[in-house]
Amino acid sequence: MTVRRISILGATGSVGTSTLDLVERSRDAFDVFALTAATNVDKLADAALRTGANLAVIDRAELLPDLRDRLKGSGCRAETGADALREAAAGDVDWVMASIVGCAGLEPVMAAVDAGKTVGLANKESLVTAGGLMTAAAARSGSTILPVDSEHNAIFQCLQGHRSQDVAKLILTASGGPFRTRSREEMAAMTPEQAVAHPNWSMGAKISVDSASMMNKGLELIEAHHLFGLPSERIAILVHPQSVIHSMVEYVDGSVLAQLGSPDMRIPIAHALAFPGRIDTPAEKLDLAKVASLTFETPDPVRFPALRLARQALEAGGAQPIALNAANEVAVAAFLDRKIGFLDIPRLVEDVMARTGAGQPQSIAEVIDIDRRSRALSIELMTEIAA
Ligand SMILES: NC(=O)c1ccc[n+]([C@@H]2O[C@H](COP(=O)([O-])OP(=O)(O)OC[C@H]3O[C@@H](n4cnc5c(N)ncnc54)[C@H](OP(=O)(O)O)[C@@H]3O)[C@@H](O)[C@H]2O)c1
Repeated sequence: MTVRRISILGATGSVGTSTLDLVERSRDAFDVFALTAATNVDKLADAALRTGANLAVIDRAELLPDLRDRLKGSGCRAETGADALREAAAGDVDWVMASIVGCAGLEPVMAAVDAGKTVGLANKESLVTAGGLMTAAAARSGSTILPVDSEHNAIFQCLQGHRSQDVAKLILTASGGPFRTRSREEMAAMTPEQAVAHPNWSMGAKISVDSASMMNKGLELIEAHHLFGLPSERIAILVHPQSVIHSMVEYVDGSVLAQLGSPDMRIPIAHALAFPGRIDTPAEKLDLAKVASLTFETPDPVRFPALRLARQALEAGGAQPIALNAANEVAVAAFLDRKIGFLDIPRLVEDVMARTGAGQPQSIAEVIDIDRRSRALSIELMTEIAA
């Protein structure tokens, strides 16, 4: 494998840390150009020094002097601001890991796509909000988008070597999250600590809460539509509590192909990092005799209304998925801050969607404008919920 020059956007988060782990284990295969973070100066500086990165970008400008201090004499430039983030994504680099959380990741992902880079896409919110614009930009620039989300990575692997016209449907598996067997009454009293305690995966706080509400699967439904070009009715969701089958593709002849593995994000990240090759990972190898049984359930859209809302947003298109995502980001942050209850999250999302039209954004600037307005509306409506 030729040496890949890479940037990691969101290098201090859960996906970013797993990516760094793999890159540091295969030092001959990767050369780190840039690493970015929002606030975590220590972790960013340590990673930049360890990997010999050329550029480290911190989002909060007031933290730049600290970062410069930490990197003094190392040869690694410390920067802040949109231009620096764009340089990290679209500068002298072949492969970009998009692992910033939330819609904040949209502009740097688009910069990488517009510049024709190969993008390992973990930041599902960027596809949810601007999927059509992003895939069109990738087709224009020649950028390759490699899915890092374990479900989409599984589907991507199951599609290799097959004709798209032979695909009958995609089956996204879902663990069901920590509240899979809880009643609505029990869910109403759940705390942030209970919501982030995912039974199988170790992840950042926002996606962990999204897994508990199953909004994560809703966002993934929209993500799958944009990545693989299938309509809502040909993308099914199946609860599979063991998280061993990461997703499946059903073909017209009735064959179903699945990708399996231990629930460790380093497996899909390694696949995207090395594609079309493969690299070793320290992930535990799958021992099916030890797993013993794999079980499946139909998801319950009554206890998990986020599934219904996401399908509704996908089918309506335009501003609706942007409103869904923005309201969800605001609501999850408020829940983690103990300002609203767990069941207020889908309630707020539904209210914001109901007050949003279906206009089709024609540019990333329009997406960002709808996102900004949806956040303002979410904050306004949340004040009523919290009162
Ligand atoms: N974690 C998983 O296993 C997993 C699996 C599949 C998909 N994903 C997706 O991958 C993305 C990252 O998830 P995660 O769990 O790794 O999140 P995380 O642990 O919260 O990390 C988020 C990263 O983004 C940075 N960041 C946050 N806000 C930012 C902003 N406004 N501007 C610039 N950088 C910002 C953070 O920097 P600081 O550390 O300095 O705050 C951190 O490096 C999400 O879209 C998620 O849905 C995650």
